Amino acid sequence: MTHHRFEGKVVAITGAARGIGRGIAERFAGEGASVVLADREELVMDTASSIREEFGAEAIGVVCDVTDEAAVAAFAEATDDRFGRLDVLVNNAGAITIAPLDELTLEAWDRVLRVNTTGAFLCAKAAVPLMRRGGRGGVIINAASGQARQGFIYTPHYAASKFGVVGLTQSLAKELAKDQIRVNAYCPGIVGSDMWDYNDREWGRLLGDYGPGELMAEWVSNIPLGRPGSNDDVANLLLFLASDEAAYITGQSINIDGGMFMS
Ligand SMILES: NC(=O)c1ccc[n+]([C@@H]2O[C@H](COP(=O)([O-])OP(=O)(O)OC[C@H]3O[C@@H](n4cnc5c(N)ncnc54)[C@H](O)[C@@H]3O)[C@@H](O)[C@H]2O)c1
Repeated sequence: MTHHRFEGKVVAITGAARGIGRGIAERFAGEGASVVLADREELVMDTASSIREEFGAEAIGVVCDVTDEAAVAAFAEATDDRFGRLDVLVNNAGAITIAPLDELTLEAWDRVLRVNTTGAFLCAKAAVPLMRRGGRGGVIINAASGQARQGFIYTPHYAASKFGVVGLTQSLAKELAKDQIRVNAYCPGIVGSDMWDYNDREWGRLLGDYGPGELMAEWVSNIPLGRPGSNDDVANLLLFLASDEAAYITGQSINIDGGMFMS
């Protein structure tokens, strides 16, 4: 069954080559949106063409590192050139590393803050003029995390970056309300992805003797709803937040984690 809730809308998603970002792009395309997929990896071009084929949607890929202001400007320009408008920006691109404090380098600290927090700032800054120009308002949705609720061990930089996303979300929500631009964030718990394969391996190694998948299984066993999240679980929240049904919701960071965090 196809839906057309987002027919005529243009939705840009960063970190969309794979994982949660790809899942989000697919669902917006399935609901009739034109989608712009940005990622620092070339793979994003293949992902965009798969979405064109599978959903018959307008989809373009843009190779863009969200930490590079000039590349982000080119991403906004490519969106404008192709579609002439932007309705929704999803700042999904994210990166993590895991290391004990003694081994956590300044370079790793800076990199994670720069992708997760500064990247969202740069993309919002480039997107807002496009949204304002249309005069129809807009929606910005930022990837936070369960680590925006509570810092996990060996990831102070990632926790700081995601708490930072919550602050950025609140501040921009206040500033951009006058332009009818709503700004919210999503906090996934555990969603199977390349990122989680890395987490499972590295936390597993540092925390003890875990075989592949064992640490993730142990953490999932503590989730009240008893399973990991899926890309669709996250995308369902984003479709709602991007829709007019969420017209009175701004500045919020919403847990989408099966009950892992309740505040
Ligand atoms: N998977 C989870 O359980 C989980 C939990 C909480 C939060 N998150 C957040 O959700 C988002 C998506 O996570 P995922 O699990 O799909 O991750 P992933 O690592 O599987 O995919 C992330 C994508 O972002 C891209 N990317 C990384 N740095 C980039 C940059 N500088 N510029 C442009 N693209 C870049 C990567 O190339 C990759 O395609 C991230 O922000 C992550 O922090 C994920």
